[in-house]
Amino acid sequence: MRSIVRGLLLLIIASLTLAAGPGMATAQGTPSASPGASPVAGPGTCLTQPIEQKDSYLVGMSQANEGEPWRQAMNDQIEAAAAAHPNLEVVFADAAQDNAKQVADVEGFLQQGIDLLIISPNEAAPLTDVVAKACAEGVPVIVLDRKVEGDQYTMWIGADNQIIGEQAGAYTAAWCAEQGHDPCQIGEIRGLEGSTPAQERGDGFRAGIASDPTVQITASQNADWLREKAIPVSQSMLQANPDLNVLYAHNDPMAEAAIISAQNNGLDLDSLLVIGIDGLPTPDGGLRSVIDGRIDVTYVYPTGGAEAIDWATQILGGNTTPPKEVVLDTVEVTSDNAQQVYEQFGGQ
Ligand code: FRU
Repeated sequence: MRSIVRGLLLLIIASLTLAAGPGMATAQGTPSASPGASPVAGPGTCLTQPIEQKDSYLVGMSQANEGEPWRQAMNDQIEAAAAAHPNLEVVFADAAQDNAKQVADVEGFLQQGIDLLIISPNEAAPLTDVVAKACAEGVPVIVLDRKVEGDQYTMWIGADNQIIGEQAGAYTAAWCAEQGHDPCQIGEIRGLEGSTPAQERGDGFRAGIASDPTVQITASQNADWLREKAIPVSQSMLQANPDLNVLYAHNDPMAEAAIISAQNNGLDLDSLLVIGIDGLPTPDGGLRSVIDGRIDVTYVYPTGGAEAIDWATQILGGNTTPPKEVVLDTVEVTSDNAQQVYEQFGGQ
């Protein structure tokens, strides 16, 4: 049954995405308003005045941290999509995981006179005010992947992290039952606490395992999304809890780190379930890892880069009231479908 559902899901996604890479999965938001709709939308959309029609537009892309492969993929997709629009110039800023730097980056963009802001915020609360400021100045804002607080932005684009967490939890519970582990002990390696996906992936996972009290989170530590931090974190977690059955990492780089620690601790990888998230189709990405038998399960987490440019051009075109949210598709990836998904997303 699971594989039929999964097969169907894949078929639907394959037909919708037409071999686009992660980050190019199909948007499911309300379609844009038909031509002739009022270009001026209400408060909280940043579209309170008509968009000035010009020959060229400057878009500021404020990235939380360019040091991570998934964020590099997002920037690459933005660059590639923007190349198809000669009237669009995109300038990038790298906040290097520093909230204060990202606030300054956005301030700098506003001084430069950007026509539209795309932002993937490092953490929600510290970036909320500067995003609201851009919005109040009439600069449309597209928030990508991680969220800000409140509603002072034009639209948010991203995959549903709560659902990804729930799916990972449900997979874990089914695996624990199949293996007959009672209790079944989980070690969780979390993303940066103030970033919304960490919260949602954690909460979703807990909801996914809730129906089975024998499935327990024994240890939960933060490694801020970073592989380098996840190595010592998982190392001490496994030393303190040698009986863990499942390692649930909030992204693939941290899952890879946990695998290294498990090996260092002399654990048998075949009897451990290792879960990650991202599923990049790159040589050192999550899909390859599943194909090679390291990570057991990952979830394709599209970057939304191409969709952001698509919506940016529509918004700047002046005749669109975009949906507040565009939710991107995700795919659960195991050894059953990893090769197929890898090829589908153009992996080399
Ligand atoms: C990169 C990253 C991804 C993760 C996303 C969540 O910074 O950690 O690995 O899926 O951010 O926002």
